[in-house]
Amino acid sequence: MKITILTIFPHMFDSFLDGSILARALNQGLLTVDVVDLRPFSQRKHKNTDDDPFGGGAGMVMLAQPIVSAMAAVAPAPGEARRIYLSPRGQPLTQRKAETLARAAHLVLLCGRYEGVDQRAVDLCIDEELSIGDYVLTGGEPAAMVLVDCVARLVPGVLGCAESAAEESFASGLLEYPQYTRPRSLNGMDVPEVLLGGNHAQILKWRREQSLRVTFARRPDLLETAPLTPLERALVERWREDGGMPGPARPL
Ligand code: ADE
Repeated sequence: MKITILTIFPHMFDSFLDGSILARALNQGLLTVDVVDLRPFSQRKHKNTDDDPFGGGAGMVMLAQPIVSAMAAVAPAPGEARRIYLSPRGQPLTQRKAETLARAAHLVLLCGRYEGVDQRAVDLCIDEELSIGDYVLTGGEPAAMVLVDCVARLVPGVLGCAESAAEESFASGLLEYPQYTRPRSLNGMDVPEVLLGGNHAQILKWRREQSLRVTFARRPDLLETAPLTPLERALVERWREDGGMPGPARPL
């Protein structure tokens, strides 16, 4: 897979791309990330990439021209790349969306700055606007890093088996169960007995229930769409009737 990032701050990506798992994927050729500076594409005398907003108002707006020219250079063939603009106005980036994007051959990510980009650039050369959450960043660069990180780790081969993506939060539609490692006892807190016994079926059952509990407590909205067995649905219903947080463990 190839990811091209269009930005006026290319250096922001230097240390990000040096990070261990991403750097390994880049070195192995599983992934190519091209960070492209928008500034050289500007046809203005001083290579500026922004101007005052028509209609007045605070801040600057990114010029359409450098974006349109850069897009034509990095993704010349129509439909060759999925062109995404990172913006707080976009659809939410979810795990499902990341899974879809991970199957694309080429993604182009446009990072906006200031008060946004001239709408004509969006209308002319963007397929999709994505937001990483309901808050406003000073620019799209951190959002592009989030997107690259969560998409790259889904590309086959990027994660070793030790870092498997299959069993974690959201893959099952639920939040992840709690994890423990050595020592068995810390400040008087013991690792749950079931994890030490080696009974794999019991461990799976315990983890599944913990996932349900943490999801019920923190993100009940996820339970509406998560694939649950009829027994699990009944359990969640009981928790709801009991009012709020589930009490001491009751068997499934
Ligand atoms: N740019 C500024 N804020 C953003 C957000 N929340 N998501 C994506 N891009 C952004």
